[in-house]
Amino acid sequence: MFDSGFGGLTVARAVIDLMPGEDLVYLGDTARYPYGPRSLEEVRRFAHQIADFLVERVDPKLLIVACNTAAAAALAELQERLDIPVVGVIEPGVRAVVSATTTGRVGVIGTVGTIGSGAYQRAVAAADPDITLACAACPGFVEFVERGEANSDQVRVLAERLLAPIGDAEVDTLLLGCTHYPYLARTISDAVGRDVVLVSSADETGFEVRSLLEEAGCQAPPRSAAGTHRFLSTGDVEWFRELGQRLLGPEVLDVEPHSWE
Ligand code: DGL
Repeated sequence: MFDSGFGGLTVARAVIDLMPGEDLVYLGDTARYPYGPRSLEEVRRFAHQIADFLVERVDPKLLIVACNTAAAAALAELQERLDIPVVGVIEPGVRAVVSATTTGRVGVIGTVGTIGSGAYQRAVAAADPDITLACAACPGFVEFVERGEANSDQVRVLAERLLAPIGDAEVDTLLLGCTHYPYLARTISDAVGRDVVLVSSADETGFEVRSLLEEAGCQAPPRSAAGTHRFLSTGDVEWFRELGQRLLGPEVLDVEPHSWE
């Protein structure tokens, strides 16, 4: 699985908890984060490059694009091009938010790239055309997470400003359409109101991965030893280990460097 940085660790946590016997390799492209402000064309190029690298290096039985921006840019192409199942985070998130709302008024927040791509607008309309959707891009959120500042005063001020349209839209459910955002859940919840239910795509993505592996009959045998968990970072590996342990947990033991040159 891969993400631009630490955000995909929210999905990694769900995958490890649901499927403790599976081996996992996670690549955080921290040297090139954030993906959100980049053009979809550039993010598409990164996504193909990372997918090819992981396929060649670890020969996975399944690939998770644990980044909404990369999924919005390249999921369909990766699914068509690769010989293994490729799972994104957008469809699972939409399924979760559609089943969680009771009023039919939902919000989605994500990076500029994700919201601008229209991927959520299309996926929600396809899942339930009667849903009223409010979208907001949140530039800057990813950078706060990557710096380990999920609760700073600055991110709170930014959240109040960026999430005002979501508050005005009177949604009952808000989908965190960026895998970094669950780490800002408290700040986001304070800004939109505690009565708004926050939904992340992490668990639903884990369920989808589990059923795909079951259908294909290639899940790790039950009661086998715990799987191995490898982490690669294209940026500062020491920082990835330190913040990764704080965000994901003790599984982030060693972080292997990878450079694109
Ligand atoms: N976690 C990525 C996502 O879900 C963040 C993208 C970024 O690096 O801006 O969109």
